[in-house]
Amino acid sequence: MTDQELIAPDLPEQRDPKKAQLKPGWYKVADSNDIGSMEAIQVDDFPTQIVVWRGKDDQLSALDLYCRHMGASLACGEVEEDGIRCPFHAWRWSGEGPCNEVPYAKRIPPKAVTRSWEVDELDGSIYVWFDRDGNSADLNGERIDELSF
Ligand code: FES
Repeated sequence: MTDQELIAPDLPEQRDPKKAQLKPGWYKVADSNDIGSMEAIQVDDFPTQIVVWRGKDDQLSALDLYCRHMGASLACGEVEEDGIRCPFHAWRWSGEGPCNEVPYAKRIPPKAVTRSWEVDELDGSIYVWFDRDGNSADLNGERIDELSF
């Protein structure tokens, strides 16, 4: 991938998940074997665009796709420990949402926090919790294998 492909001419628009008319539940985003160890994928079939990755100890994490710094796709980044490093300026984002490393900087901007999503893996499928009101995940919540907007 060239630098040109990583730099959007305009910052990409992160879809507003609050506009999605979907019931709360666990939405299937991939088969388990779609994401190998230390790999990331981009998911568009969700109320907003997300990156999902499998980090250290096979821990799954998900964040909004576009980097809060200048909008690069985090799915093009490198999985590192439990986080993902942006391909553009190499800020490293934790699976919980805050940026936890900015190369060559003494401090991390307080606003460098992105939205995280709860992920679960069950019977060979990877699910991400969605509730447009922002309620936390219910492990017994409904599993929805087909997304219909
Ligand atoms: S765009 Fe991600 S670190 Fe700059």
